[in-house]
Amino acid sequence: MKKSPDQLRSHRWFGGNDLRSFGHRSRTKQMGYSARDFEGKPVIAIVNTWSDLTTCHSHFRDRAEEVKRGVWQAGGFPVELPAMPVNETYMKPSPMMYRNFLAMETEELLRSQPIDGVVLMGGCDKTTPGLLMGAISMNLPSVYLPAGPMLRGNWNGTVLGSGSDVWKFWAEKRAGNISDCEWSEMEDGIARSPGHCMTMGTASTMTAIAETLGLTLPGASSIPAVDANHARMATSCGRRVVEMVWDDMKPRDVLSAASFRNAITADMAIGGSTNAIIHLVALAGRAGIRLDLRQFDEISQRTPMIANLRPSGEYLMEDFYYAGGLRALLKQISGLLDLNALTVSGRTIGRNIETARVFNDSVIRSLEHPVASSGGTAVLYGNLAPNGAVIKPTAAEPRLLKHTGPAVVFKDYADLEARIDDEALPVQEDSVLVLQNAGPLGGPGMPEWGMLPIPRRLLAQGVRDMVRISDARMSGTSYGACVLHVSPESYVGGPLAFVHDGDLIELDVAERRLELRVDGNEMGRRRASWQPRPAHYERGFGALYAAHVTQAERGCDFDFLEAGAETAEPEIY
Ligand code: FES
Repeated sequence: MKKSPDQLRSHRWFGGNDLRSFGHRSRTKQMGYSARDFEGKPVIAIVNTWSDLTTCHSHFRDRAEEVKRGVWQAGGFPVELPAMPVNETYMKPSPMMYRNFLAMETEELLRSQPIDGVVLMGGCDKTTPGLLMGAISMNLPSVYLPAGPMLRGNWNGTVLGSGSDVWKFWAEKRAGNISDCEWSEMEDGIARSPGHCMTMGTASTMTAIAETLGLTLPGASSIPAVDANHARMATSCGRRVVEMVWDDMKPRDVLSAASFRNAITADMAIGGSTNAIIHLVALAGRAGIRLDLRQFDEISQRTPMIANLRPSGEYLMEDFYYAGGLRALLKQISGLLDLNALTVSGRTIGRNIETARVFNDSVIRSLEHPVASSGGTAVLYGNLAPNGAVIKPTAAEPRLLKHTGPAVVFKDYADLEARIDDEALPVQEDSVLVLQNAGPLGGPGMPEWGMLPIPRRLLAQGVRDMVRISDARMSGTSYGACVLHVSPESYVGGPLAFVHDGDLIELDVAERRLELRVDGNEMGRRRASWQPRPAHYERGFGALYAAHVTQAERGCDFDFLEAGAETAEPEIY
């Protein structure tokens, strides 16, 4: 049953015959619009995270105009609303601190203004979950417009991937194998177009997840940012959201336990970023669906990783698009998906992928010849991580997946920076590097410090991977035997806080175990003498964040933003 114009949410602002409605109409006309432009039409917000410092979104001014074109074509009235441009590159101490800020801003931007439907423009890591968390809570008809990956990097004929090749060649530079001049040439070639990181990092993972959840148009997440098809997709988003308003199709009509299972399955098949676990838990929480870390592990164990993309594989997102993109990958794993899950296209995901084909089976492998026989993420438990920790086994040297070694402990990142290359550091190839105070509260903001650098002395000996353990996150473009998201975090007195130099730590990925080999009495003594660190913030957003952020296994959302009673529509007086 289609809505009528007087049932539009914006009708409350524009449709009355009172003083307030006069103000709303006259101020819209102040911009040169006439009543014909907006009267009785769905008002479509284009929530744009463009900024001069959000370099992944540098094409968003053009894309916003292309969305507007679609909205006008379909009989809507487009309005562009700038939102917190959370970017991965510049925001300190960690952009993760601001994901919930963007979510709150998105929700309240929509609630407080005469909006009927929304196109959400994001892509750089935290923008996808931030925008979607807000949109799910507000629950107006919404389409997600993913920024699209940038083009392949290039350095003297060598293909460069965002992040992954930075870490790789930085290690070579520290080992003395790359000159300053070569390093500078790479700087010119690694990010050479608009778009988000083009490895299967957090950005590509989260946009693929948004598509699998059903919140983008079919195929949208794989289109390179500068491809003309991306501009056409933007216009289609504008057209489609107007239809969704008339049909009253909202995010929580699309999302279900099945769509989240599909998203986790896709995450494993693409070898997605470990960050996706935190964001998916938070997204599901906003939809009133509880995800347990064990669900990720179960799905990981039955899902082969078939996307041959860096950091776990060879290729980049541009290759993935030419190979058929996410639709083709989902077609390959369709037997593992619930094909009846709904999408914003108005069709099921099964219908959306019906005609998809793989054009390059080296990039998108078959189930018979996967990159890895099980998914990209394992969830670990043990006395060092009672509430869980994660590792990406496909990105680690296999010899380290079962390993016992003595701990070398860094109290925080400053301590790590100061001592990691110290010649006197008692570190060996079999040592386990431990970083404390890098979690949601300790970092603060759970920075992406989890890929601790290999000490220079060991690099020179040819060592390129070691077991590393922290309560931090890791960039989705990173790699190595890095145990992440240890919970509870050390800053709040989790067991990671009590690890001392020389303690033996046992990692067994096959058994999903992470154990500190220190007896219970000694742990009790260490716990009794532990002193919490002072708070990072006494005022402002930092203090709000610290008072309400949850631990990693709960998605690091704010406790007061998790699903609860509906917030009432604002009164209009
Ligand atoms: Fe924006 Fe990597 S810096 S996605």
